[in-house]
Amino acid sequence: MPQPRILVTRNIPRPALERLDEVFELELHASDTAIPRDRLLDAVQDKDALLCLLTDAIDAELLDAAPRLKCVSNLAVGYNNIDLDHATRKGIVVCNTPGVLTQSTADLAWALILACARRVVESDRYVREGRFEGWGPMLMLGVDVFGKTLGIIGIGRIGSAVARRAEGFGMRVIWFDPLVDPKTVASEYERTDLRHLCANSDFITIHAPLTPATEHLISGEEFALMRPQTILINSARGPLVDEAALIQALRNRQIAAAGLDVYEREPEIPAGLLELDNAVLLPHIGSASVETRTKMALMAAENAIAVISGKTPPARVY
Ligand code: DGY
Repeated sequence: MPQPRILVTRNIPRPALERLDEVFELELHASDTAIPRDRLLDAVQDKDALLCLLTDAIDAELLDAAPRLKCVSNLAVGYNNIDLDHATRKGIVVCNTPGVLTQSTADLAWALILACARRVVESDRYVREGRFEGWGPMLMLGVDVFGKTLGIIGIGRIGSAVARRAEGFGMRVIWFDPLVDPKTVASEYERTDLRHLCANSDFITIHAPLTPATEHLISGEEFALMRPQTILINSARGPLVDEAALIQALRNRQIAAAGLDVYEREPEIPAGLLELDNAVLLPHIGSASVETRTKMALMAAENAIAVISGKTPPARVY
């Protein structure tokens, strides 16, 4: 029997490639940059499975170009890059990698909270520029995190892990999430609506999925409710925040700072953001630890193997 064929669209941790190699005839786009669209459309034509990334648009055109495709295994927990409805219509199973990246992503959200509050990145630049002339009582004053209010938008796996870390900082946690069953959320965290959360949080951190309903969830109206000391963190998906409105809010000091790991049109970063000292900008590295990326890649591999073997995959999206 010929082996089923899989396309892997980028270099991924080796253990996952080795595992895939046991089952599939493997074609790897052996690069650290995104596979060109025409290459992807061409390579997918004779594949039974596709292991892809959030940077690959798995739309109707792509799915229609792959008549043998049975599985799209996304190396991410988010799957807004995939036309799920079209895949479903075609009977293609879509899988993702939930759970294994929860703790790393929560750590990264906290790295941004602390970096913004204590002006860590700005201070590093200041030292490297040779501007440090000794301790000063007014030098690089930030704000405390301890005892403040943390507003969490989206209290699923990652949002809850962020909340647990907040306990160590003696914070009051309030949350907004229309999708979650409140009974599954620890009772010491206070449920609220988005307007109240915006108006009453010192730190706001977003952990919601990107859907048509959540696009620009945070826009001019929400920034108008926030306070001058508010710090906004987004490590979920860029389009959840209206970037133009965010730049205005940061520029006018309507809010104090923003810590961003994601952007509206990645990898494009608007010049307006790059010039702001009160924005900490990271290159979408929420889950980027060796351990977590290895677990994600292995999970994506097991998803594809299970589907192709007629078994239940560890994480099927629908
Ligand atoms: C995801 O998994 O959705 C992240 O954005 C990348 O780890």
